[in-house]
Parts: sequence; C-alpha cells; structure tokens
Amino acid sequence: MQGIFRGRHFIDLEEWTKEEIDILLDVSNYFKKKFKLGVATPYLSYQTIFLMFFEQSTRTRNSMEAGIAQLGGHANYLDTSTMQISHGETPKDTAIILSRFGHGIACRNCFWEVGNKYLREMAKWSTVPIMSLQCDLYHPMQGLADLMTIKEKVGDLKRTKISIIWAYAKSHKKPISVPVTQVLLFPRYGMDVTLAYPKGYDLPEWVINDAKKNALKYGGTLKITHNMEEAYRDADIVIPKNWGSWVNNQSTEVVDSLLESYKDWKCTEKMMSIANKDVLYMHALPADRGNEVEDSVIDGSHSIVYDEAENRLHTAKAVMALTMGGK
Ligand code: CP
Repeated sequence: MQGIFRGRHFIDLEEWTKEEIDILLDVSNYFKKKFKLGVATPYLSYQTIFLMFFEQSTRTRNSMEAGIAQLGGHANYLDTSTMQISHGETPKDTAIILSRFGHGIACRNCFWEVGNKYLREMAKWSTVPIMSLQCDLYHPMQGLADLMTIKEKVGDLKRTKISIIWAYAKSHKKPISVPVTQVLLFPRYGMDVTLAYPKGYDLPEWVINDAKKNALKYGGTLKITHNMEEAYRDADIVIPKNWGSWVNNQSTEVVDSLLESYKDWKCTEKMMSIANKDVLYMHALPADRGNEVEDSVIDGSHSIVYDEAENRLHTAKAVMALTMGGK
C-alpha cells in the first residue's frame, strides 16, 4: 500500500484522489484505535522529520511532534527565525540540506502570496516528502482531521448540510487556508456546502470555480450567501470561523473599519437555535472566544471541537507513516 504514497508531497488535498484520501482516513482510524489501546506503532523507527514554523502553533506542532514520537521517530522543531533563512538562505538550499539529514520536511508558512510558493519551491528540490503545516492557501492536515471527525459523527456524508461561515475576530488576521481547504474538500464527499461571508471577505474566484467543479463531479452542492442566518438555518454542521480579507486587501493590519462593521457575525445560541436540532459546531481552533463564538456554544453540547483537535494527531500520523519511510 505504501508504494503509491511513499515520497509523496502533502501540500494540497486537491492533488490527492478521493480513493487516496479514503486510505489516509483508514490509516488514521487504525492509528486512533492503536493509540486508545496503548499499542505501539513504530512504523518510522529512527526516522527524522524537520518541522519548520514561520508562525505560531499549538495543535499542528504538537500533533506532529507527538505523532512522530509515537511512530518511533524524532522531530526537530525549527523556529525559522533562528535558521539561516532569516539571513536569506533559500528554500532550495534549505530543502536539499534537510533532505540529506532526515526523512521528511514539514513547514508552516502562511505569508500571503508567499507561503504556498515557498512549499512548492522546497518540494521541487527535496528528496523527501514535503508536508504543509498550513500555507496562505491550504491547510491539508486540518482538512483531513475535519473530514475524519465529520465521518465519525455523521457516517454517510451525502446530503449533509454543512455551512462554512465567516465570523468576527480580532486576535490576528487569519489566513484563508482553512475555509479554502474545506470548500474544496467537502463537495467531493457529496455534502451540501453553504459558504457565507460578508462582502469584502471573498475567497479567490478560482477556489469557488474548482469547488463548483468538485460538487458537479461528486454529487455535492455549493451555495454562496452573504446572509448569515441563511447559512445557519437547518444546517447539520456549522463551522463559523474568521478569515482575513486577504483577497481584497493585502494589508497585515488586523482591525479595520470593514472588520468592525461585521461584529454581529458571531456564532450565538440564537443562531444555533435556527439550525438542525442536532447541529454540530466545529472550529479548527484557536477560537477568538467572545468574538467568533459565545462560550456557551463552544463549551456546549453541540460542540465537537476537542474531538476535531484530537484527530489532528491521528491524521498527522497517517500522513507521516504513509509518505515517509524510504530513502
Ligand atoms: N488548527 C491549527 O492549525 O491550530 P494551530 O495553529 O495551533 O496549529
């Protein structure tokens, strides 16, 4: 089975077929069961992965570090501000050198119009798999964990009404990579996807076009609305989460007048009450509590955010175990 996975880069789930994603999920489930049973899974004994972070992380860093340890290997955590990258060393040289030292390279670089290109440049030169830990466009590790979680909770995903809803936040100007990954991925599983956001917070046009193509091909649907209530009404799953206005405004300023005019885009109990009575609340985390969502919702009975976060571990292990392992 590893033959078709070993050495593959993991940068964008669109480059992975549905059958391959299903195998990634099967292996994630396998690792989850073994983890719960306390059974060792040393599939990557003595292997090293380099984890390069241009930005902060809690879930991604720790799921990868714990994951590789549980697979019998080792992670080198690399804060890129302490690397020669800060003196201008190129992604080419960095990728070639780290390839010589280990078995996988993972990187988070979310700088707008830089991050994905940086990963692609490393992938061009690396002789080991390059794994995205989130870039300006995609967050495939999060997308895989989200899909695993939804499958666990819902089962057959066809005709599941899932709403990806922009939410107000001022913690930082968040990348668009989570909603982009979700809006491309969910229609491939036959889900009825609603994307809701206030004017000014568009996702790139090519993303919407590709998501529509995915919906057509796999039997899902995609609806876009600028009406928040419409997105909550009768939804089976809601994912209210902030993203920045990067497509229309590349400024790194976090709070501006456009953002402040949409303070009411918050996930509240009132909004949850117009959704399906068994609606599930998801968020990739970290959440801007009080702004994106009321505490009573994220801490309430509909919330599955901790199961979603836990699955980052099991899916990270599956990605590493299937793509690493050979020189
Ligand atoms: N969801 C997510 O990627 O979390 P971190 O930023 O903490 O890694």
